[in-house]
Amino acid sequence: MRNKTIFGLMLLLLCACTGPFTQRERLIIGRSQVPMYVTTVEADSAFLRTPSADFGPAELASPLLDTLISMMMGTLRHPSQDGVGIAAPQVGISRRIIIVKRYDKSDGPFEVFVNVKIDSLLGAVVCGPEGCLSVPGLRGMVPRHEQVVVSYYDRALGKRVSELVDGYTAIIFQHECDHLDGILYTDRADTVFVNEAWLEERAAFDYSKPEWW
Ligand code: NI
Repeated sequence: MRNKTIFGLMLLLLCACTGPFTQRERLIIGRSQVPMYVTTVEADSAFLRTPSADFGPAELASPLLDTLISMMMGTLRHPSQDGVGIAAPQVGISRRIIIVKRYDKSDGPFEVFVNVKIDSLLGAVVCGPEGCLSVPGLRGMVPRHEQVVVSYYDRALGKRVSELVDGYTAIIFQHECDHLDGILYTDRADTVFVNEAWLEERAAFDYSKPEWW
């Protein structure tokens, strides 16, 4: 009887370790609510500095990925965040997935990019203002390229595709892909300053880390 119990426990543990997504990722996706807890430089610096991994084939086909996407989307668009882009490390998942508001398309849809990377930086370097959900209360002036070529895995087509993006949307891609490489805009900024309006606007919301996190 005791042996059976131990065998059962070992089997459970094996399943927990070998399924798509790590145990930690499944905990975060399973227990989080919208808005998800957003990692910050104050509380989660080492995590934000960790480069993200690609999703494997089993994860790309998993309904858990759809759950993660819808929760990231809900977090990005929640009044407490209200951003133009988000990367998975910002919700505690070290994987190459971002959401970007497409200012280069009519109606500016939010689009999801999986296993995304920037292949080329093109055009002139321009300096513009940026903020980040993970660097609360600050903004900075950051030099970025005007155009990028991004490539990603298109789940509907079942293959990698690439795209030339320009303007402000190209800036968002650079900011979000930097997160996947453990880089924050403050690393690249010429100047960083306190965003008083943000501090006032966001004072009403609770950004604390859940106990289980
Ligand atoms: Ni950011």
